Amino acid sequence: MKFWKFSTTAVAALLASVSMVSAGGPADGQAAADPDSAVVKLTEKEFKGFLEENPLVLTEFFAPWCGYCKILGPEFSKAADILNESHPNIKLAQIDCTEQEDLCHKHEIRGYPTMKVMRGPFQQPDDYDGPRDADGIVNYMVKQSLPPVQLVEDADAFVAASKAENQPFIVQVFPSKLQKKFSSHNETFGELANEKRKSMSFFSIEDDAQIAKLDKAVSAKLSGLKEPAYLVIHPNELDDVRVFSGEVNKSSLEEFSVNAKVPYFGDINRDTYLTYMTSSLPLGYYFYSHIDERAAVDKFFTELGKKYAGKINFVGLDASQYGRHAEILNMNPEIVPLFAIQDNSNSRKYGIDQTENPNPSTDDIKKFVEDFLAGKVEPIIKSEPLPSEEEVASQAVVKLVSHNYEDILKDNSKDVFVKYYAPWCGHCKKLAPIWEELADIYGSKNEDSDVVIAHIDHTLNDVDTPIPIEGYPTLLFYPANGEVDPKTGLREHRLYTDGRDLESLIAYIKKNGLGVDGEKLRAEKQIVEDDGEEEEVVEEAAEEAAEHDEL
Ligand SMILES: *[C@@H]1O[C@H](CO)[C@@H](O)[C@H](O)[C@H]1NC(C)=O
Ligand SMILES: *[C@@H]1O[C@H](CO)[C@@H](O)[C@H](O)[C@H]1NC(C)=O
Ligand SMILES: *[C@@H]1O[C@H](CO)[C@@H](O)[C@H](O)[C@H]1NC(C)=O
Repeated sequence: MKFWKFSTTAVAALLASVSMVSAGGPADGQAAADPDSAVVKLTEKEFKGFLEENPLVLTEFFAPWCGYCKILGPEFSKAADILNESHPNIKLAQIDCTEQEDLCHKHEIRGYPTMKVMRGPFQQPDDYDGPRDADGIVNYMVKQSLPPVQLVEDADAFVAASKAENQPFIVQVFPSKLQKKFSSHNETFGELANEKRKSMSFFSIEDDAQIAKLDKAVSAKLSGLKEPAYLVIHPNELDDVRVFSGEVNKSSLEEFSVNAKVPYFGDINRDTYLTYMTSSLPLGYYFYSHIDERAAVDKFFTELGKKYAGKINFVGLDASQYGRHAEILNMNPEIVPLFAIQDNSNSRKYGIDQTENPNPSTDDIKKFVEDFLAGKVEPIIKSEPLPSEEEVASQAVVKLVSHNYEDILKDNSKDVFVKYYAPWCGHCKKLAPIWEELADIYGSKNEDSDVVIAHIDHTLNDVDTPIPIEGYPTLLFYPANGEVDPKTGLREHRLYTDGRDLESLIAYIKKNGLGVDGEKLRAEKQIVEDDGEEEEVVEEAAEEAAEHDEL
């Protein structure tokens, strides 16, 4: 799961960079709601009591000076007034974080405005992820006020209404003669609905006459069930309902709901990437540069998706918009169409060779998918070549690439300190001379050194990391004798967040690793060497790097 996070971040960053949503500038409105509106202003003292009395509250945490809060303020007031008329049991409240610091701290508020849906004082609040205009807020909250599982009372009306839904939904079919024996299934379904109601609608149909009606309308066979059935229905695709099979428990039902939600051949873009990334299944990408190219393979992929439902998902990707995503898959974005597979469970990437076969046919793709599922395809691993002898000799820092990364991290007898960097990053350049000096102090590249100071250009080497790398440089310290995670094969790590000066780094290594005293090594070195000149050079380099940063 850890690696999955990394890929999500990468996709998110990439797709977001392509089309930024432009936000309107701060308006003239007030962040604090109109005192005459139905918004309730809360303080820490009143907070718990208010939640006890009101089972459903949307709380906005804000600061009076914040621009986006000023845009939201009037809409929030309006929504509260509408709800006060139509659904008086739903409350909207505001907390001014400049006055209620403790309360905001407790709720880990990191930005303004933050809105949370609260259901009583004991249930963990949910982040609000709906629209920010009055009508949007009202609709979202009314939906939240419905029971998590909605009972279908009229199957014909349900079928008719389902066509107007814009998202797939899940239905439990629960005939009367099974209701006693399988009450625990029903409970599991209810619990899942309670947790996932934001991402999907949950229905249950429990009346035999209505089940018979539904049976006629959908492709699944619902008469004579021996266990409750679970269906994911895509609007307007009643002849292609996905049916759960296997042992019912919360995680298996959840996995089914996520995997069955995606179309057999959809498109991945800003709106859909999260859905695909939360699926545990491998994702097969077809990059196309023109819509005709996509249309030509639509039927092929839809059938392939159907055949391998629950094993792999397939998506098209518009390379004219998101083509650079190919780099994340270790493919060349210049050669399109291309076909590649990303395995979300371990972040490995596979692709049809673009040099040998630059325009793969549907037969090639079919064969490739079969081989992949049979475990017969090798992943593509991006790596710089191993450093040459001259390179090793000229640098104090140990250079890591994909090919030697694991070997060096595997040596559990040493403290290994890795700088993950990108060549374009200014802070990395600033740190480079300090890192070099650090490596020099520990004699890092010598066989007998207990401390390995290393770096890796993370843009050129596709390596597994224990946490997602969200910025450069990221400094990870792997202490000697650290435990090895049996699942990932990676050893225990610590994220370094102290100062990026030599003294702090040395102190950290001494404290967190084998205890090698870098200050002592440094003093010894200075006695031996004619150090004056050398230090000046280092300082100059640091200054240069800093100046370069400003440009
Ligand atoms: C909320 O609704 C009640 C009942 O209709 C009404 O008496 C009250 O004035 C409303 N509050 C606000 C602030 O509009
Ligand atoms: C199934 O669970 C729901 C709550 O999620 C409950 O309202 C309903 O009565 C249960 N159905 C049966 C037949 O027990
Ligand atoms: C849930 O069911 C699946 C099969 O559908 C099974 O593989 C898994 O081990 C079960 N998990 C739990 C926690 O029982």
